[in-house]
Amino acid sequence: MPIEIKNSSSQPLQIDSGGRLLHFLAIEGLDRQRLLQLLDSAAQFISSDTNVRKSQGSLLAGHTVVNLFFEDSTRTRTTFEIAGKRLGASVINLNTSRLSTRKGETVLDTVRTLEAMDADIFVVRDNSSGTAHLIARHVPPHVHIINAGDGRHAHPTQAMLDMFTIRAHKGDISKLRFAIVGDILHSRVARSQIAALQILGAKEIRVVAPATLLPTEIERLGVTALTNIDEGLEDVDVIMMLRLQLERMEGQLIPSSQEYFRCYGLNQDRLNRAAPDAVVMHPGPMNRGLEIASDVADSDRSLVLSQVTNGIAVRMAIMAELAGMNKE
Ligand code: CP
Repeated sequence: MPIEIKNSSSQPLQIDSGGRLLHFLAIEGLDRQRLLQLLDSAAQFISSDTNVRKSQGSLLAGHTVVNLFFEDSTRTRTTFEIAGKRLGASVINLNTSRLSTRKGETVLDTVRTLEAMDADIFVVRDNSSGTAHLIARHVPPHVHIINAGDGRHAHPTQAMLDMFTIRAHKGDISKLRFAIVGDILHSRVARSQIAALQILGAKEIRVVAPATLLPTEIERLGVTALTNIDEGLEDVDVIMMLRLQLERMEGQLIPSSQEYFRCYGLNQDRLNRAAPDAVVMHPGPMNRGLEIASDVADSDRSLVLSQVTNGIAVRMAIMAELAGMNKE
């Protein structure tokens, strides 16, 4: 279950008393208007027009973005770097295997040290739930923390780029049925997706997984839980596949890779159960032949690479908003 996001005065940690976005830590705690405003803002950053790009190229001039990734990443880290550079920020990618945290320095002292060098936007990924929140509680008001994935808890910018991609390809989210399929138990992506879909009023949200990969009481989040994938995919408009998080599994939660693919892998036959114009998404990295068949992943129904591209615009919009540079 998502952890509660409060500071000591019980105000939401992400938003200040004037309604300004201070940090981007979780979808929970943001309202529909805020999500729609960020998605609309991202639409302005998608442009490849040279003049538009030039006008956006100084929005974060003078700011320093630090990518502080204690866990591996290809998409998130790179798109944050591109997004920061397109906005004119200095972007620093720290090699966390070479940081002084390995000599015993705390992550808070590391952040304070980088703050002393004028870093003011930190993009944080860690395998512990709550790391970005912990840092956000200890930084001064001009410093902004973005959660790029914390343990099993949240991956809010992934959920935002997913919402952006769905709107761009399928329109109004409130008219659509969704199936989120795979390792729900260990997935921070699923938690953030469910929160965003609910705030945006999705018509129906199903989660589909073997019983061993479904959190107990998941239906209290307002979703329908199913263990039969054929039933789960029936007539849905959007299929959101998830990676099997083998690195987070304790014990044998699936019988074997072959058995998992046979029972839960998305192949063409299963895709045919969904609505005729249904689209397929996956946050990546994909395990072909485990979660998804290659012919589906590479088909014209797959939005996987669109998700990656849209991640740049969505992350530009979020950083511009944090820096107070998103003008209505
Ligand atoms: N979707 C996602 O978070 O991918 P990376 O681990 O490559 O950043």
